[in-house]
Amino acid sequence: MTLVLDAVGITKEFPGTRALNNVHLDLRAGEIHAVMGENGAGKSTLMKILAGIDYPNSGEIRFQGQPVQLTSPREALMLGIAIVHQELSLVPPLTVAENIFPGRLPVNRFGLVRYGMLFEQAQAALDKLNIAVDPRALVSQLSVAQQQLVEIAKALSYNCKVLILDEPTSALTDSEANLLLGFLKRLTQEGVGILYISHKINEVFAAADRVTVLRDGEYVGTESIAEITPDHVIRMMVGRELGDLYPPRSEKRGGVLLEVRNLRLPNQTARNSFQLYEGEILGIAGLLGSGRSELARAIFGVDPKTEGEILLQGRTLHIQNPQQAIRYGLGYLPEDRKIAGLFLEMSVKLNIEAATIPEVSHYGLVSAAKERALAEQYVGMLNISTPSVEQEVRRLSGGNQQKALVARWLSINPKILIVDEPTRGIDVGAKKEIHFLLRELAHKGVGVIMISSELPEILGMSDRILVMHEGSIAAEYASKTVTEEEIIRSASNS
Ligand SMILES: Nc1ncnc2c1ncn2[C@@H]1O[C@H](COP(=O)(O)OP(=O)(O)OP(=O)(O)O)[C@@H](O)[C@H]1O
Ligand SMILES: [Mg+2]
Repeated sequence: MTLVLDAVGITKEFPGTRALNNVHLDLRAGEIHAVMGENGAGKSTLMKILAGIDYPNSGEIRFQGQPVQLTSPREALMLGIAIVHQELSLVPPLTVAENIFPGRLPVNRFGLVRYGMLFEQAQAALDKLNIAVDPRALVSQLSVAQQQLVEIAKALSYNCKVLILDEPTSALTDSEANLLLGFLKRLTQEGVGILYISHKINEVFAAADRVTVLRDGEYVGTESIAEITPDHVIRMMVGRELGDLYPPRSEKRGGVLLEVRNLRLPNQTARNSFQLYEGEILGIAGLLGSGRSELARAIFGVDPKTEGEILLQGRTLHIQNPQQAIRYGLGYLPEDRKIAGLFLEMSVKLNIEAATIPEVSHYGLVSAAKERALAEQYVGMLNISTPSVEQEVRRLSGGNQQKALVARWLSINPKILIVDEPTRGIDVGAKKEIHFLLRELAHKGVGVIMISSELPEILGMSDRILVMHEGSIAAEYASKTVTEEEIIRSASNS
């Protein structure tokens, strides 16, 4: 089989970190080649090097057998290497169409953009992928998942020979992910080689031909998917057996903790009522745009006041903004860590403590040593890979940024914790850790609302499951008795 891309002996150092050490990777034309490894293993760094964004300290890259120096993304694109980044990189104030064809806008002979033509071309690019997004819409109005799909349409609009996808499905639900995977399969039939980073093992086994595993910047091995098992890949990634990903459920639950009555979400007509019990993990499933995140934001006071009532232990709450919600004992991990969560320029320590700081100031000072110890405790517990708690968060790998955000909300001792896609982009070992920590909170009486697009996670973690459809709660299940199929059915057509 012909190799389209071939990297040997790649080493890359950052101050304080050797991100890659003598790593190799080869990509065949027409294959989907998964790259897996724990958070911070070096996957994104390797992909950036192959896309001409980062430059290695040593090593060689060959494209179709010829050694190449990739010194800019443009150069890589000219060869036919396109990348969809882990972190979204669209320009929010521009339209979808302008984002798909940056620097390639069709112009008339006066140099003016031919918008009619641009929108048509963008529509065609979106249709090819079955993406229901208006090319005229502003990117700032799109959900994370929609932005992710637009990024993919953009990469595909360069007729590339190598397509690099860095966790393309982390913001997608299973059904959208399946659509994408189907499309990628068709693309391989045209001879395109695809490098595919994902933490979702099911997905890799469903779609990939081969997998390369990295651990702590070292090359572990490359295997043919047909010849190995998921457990084998996990062992390659974490170097040990992991056991069960989900903690045992608790048999008891307390009284009603939170009651939501007749809550109407922005731009929706339906009214939603539900209860959350002490010590319960309530899962919320649904398709993209079904209103799951809107529900969470409404409760936490992020979105402008929506109609309805919210009661905490029988007392009506008046939540106008997140600060008030935190004071009532609510915590909320948002779905988009960059927009609604992390302070990228600040240290890991300050990011972990960000939610407690307003509280702390009520009582006076907390000793710096105590603060540091708390941050270090979570860095250890969640295995956040960072040289120290003083490191700026933006220098962490994507999954480790997410872990810092999870640590923030675990550390405030909330009465109610709402988590929206808590393990997005998190490796399998840390995922297990977060699952057990959430269950431990529930054991202490905390009510947990968990929104997740991963059905195995919803089924594995929840005591009870609500399914949302078009802005309203369409079904409720006891998770012991429900199947994935039933949830999918009520999410799509009830
Ligand atoms: N610009 C940078 N400055 C300093 N360190 C960096 C920088 N970029 C990456 N690193 C470090 O290099 C290592 C590898 O990071 P990388 O982003 O490649 O991991 P990853 O395998 O993609 O992880 P994830 O699954 O979390 O996305 C990490 O320890 C990270 O902190
Ligand atoms: Mg990464």
